[in-house]
Amino acid sequence: AEVKLWGGRFQQRTTNAVESFSESVSYDKKLYKEDLAGSCAHAVMLAKQGLMSEEDRDAILKGIAEIEARIESGNFTWRSDREDVHMNVEAALTDLIGEPAKKLHTARSRNDQVATDVRLWCRNAIDNLVKKIIALQIALVQLALDNEGLVVPGYTHLQRAQPILLQHLLLAYVEQLERDAGRLKDCRCRINFSPLGSCALAGTGLPIDRFMTAEALGFTAPLRNSVDAVSDRDFLIEFLAANSIIAVHLSRIGEEWVLWASEEFGFLIPSDAVSTGSSIMPQKKNPDPMELVRGKSARVIGDLMTVLVLCKGLPQAYNRDLQEDKEPLFDSVETIGTVLEVTTEFSQNVTFNRKRISASLSAGHLDATTMADYLVNKGIPFRTSHDIVGKAVALAISKDVELSKLTLEELRSINPVFEDDVYEYLGVENAVKRFQSYGSTGASCVKEQLQYWCEKLKLV
Ligand code: ARG
Repeated sequence: AEVKLWGGRFQQRTTNAVESFSESVSYDKKLYKEDLAGSCAHAVMLAKQGLMSEEDRDAILKGIAEIEARIESGNFTWRSDREDVHMNVEAALTDLIGEPAKKLHTARSRNDQVATDVRLWCRNAIDNLVKKIIALQIALVQLALDNEGLVVPGYTHLQRAQPILLQHLLLAYVEQLERDAGRLKDCRCRINFSPLGSCALAGTGLPIDRFMTAEALGFTAPLRNSVDAVSDRDFLIEFLAANSIIAVHLSRIGEEWVLWASEEFGFLIPSDAVSTGSSIMPQKKNPDPMELVRGKSARVIGDLMTVLVLCKGLPQAYNRDLQEDKEPLFDSVETIGTVLEVTTEFSQNVTFNRKRISASLSAGHLDATTMADYLVNKGIPFRTSHDIVGKAVALAISKDVELSKLTLEELRSINPVFEDDVYEYLGVENAVKRFQSYGSTGASCVKEQLQYWCEKLKLV
């Protein structure tokens, strides 16, 4: 093996075990584009500041373009004895253009370099994830548009609670995703500051211009403190936390749809295209993709835990432990990307079983709370109304009928306040119509929500 880039003071070669243990190029080569972009900006700045000649700068820029082309056409050999993406690129550039390449690492360390690369990579990753969130929101709004007027049982404690429009439930998912996108964008703002030029930890005595490289790379500004710039991975923790919240939201959708696809619920019919079968039971059709969406949340949360624990014992400035941030970062981003895509595809491939859903609506006295509201409208205090309706429910249960099937006489035997107009509140269709205050599930409120999302997502 060749002499290391840092080999000046060394007299022995690295053992094989240490070399393969400490290499990161096998995974951090993913950062090559960001690494090359950072090097270009750095070289341009060094030349402008008189730290490198224009000829050297041009040789470097040309060499970097060549390296990029080689990497992209698969003609670049990544060497684990060159440790990481940064030293692979620098050594390859030296092989390619010779002397000028040796000026590139002026006023730069791998410590600020890697922090710069990762921030650039995250910025792009966030932009892609936000696009995927929007695609899922569009699919869910479309599903809502396709299912106008469909009433479903709403649950609390997984017990029948109150009737809601399916559209209302789907738009609840859309709201959650909107906050998820917002968290990613917020975190992007804090990511978008440049560590470049912080060097190892102390900054530099050479006359560099960090504002120039920050601007060239699209950063808001350089980070103010060089120790902070190479030390912290709080921006990653924040990103992975935002991903974990997305994973948890999608896991809950997964859980709901897996339940709904069961024979017991029978509300949701995934198409064959998004279902899988059993190797032994010929009749089976399983909603595996949504089970996996639920399951993948475990690893995304695990990735966050990895980086949290990784950072918790570290003194300030760079520690090699930080190299361990990359695999959880890449895993989290890739996993969230695929669960978003698969959930989108699943949403585009489901129908709702209207027959089963409407048959289910008669059970569970979903209109009981609306009946209590009726009594409130008659001037009865809510707590008393609750008690009266509770007795009506008990009577309905004893007779094995719905509340709407109790006669006026039976209702009056509980309390004489009941009149004929009570039947305008009973039955799920009547009940759903009553929910009219801001944010409720009544048709007019849901229509307003739908309009809002159609405009925001540029549908129709
Ligand atoms: N591969 C390293 C990482 O990912 C790059 C920085 C290494 N710096 C150092 N001084 N060894 O963290």
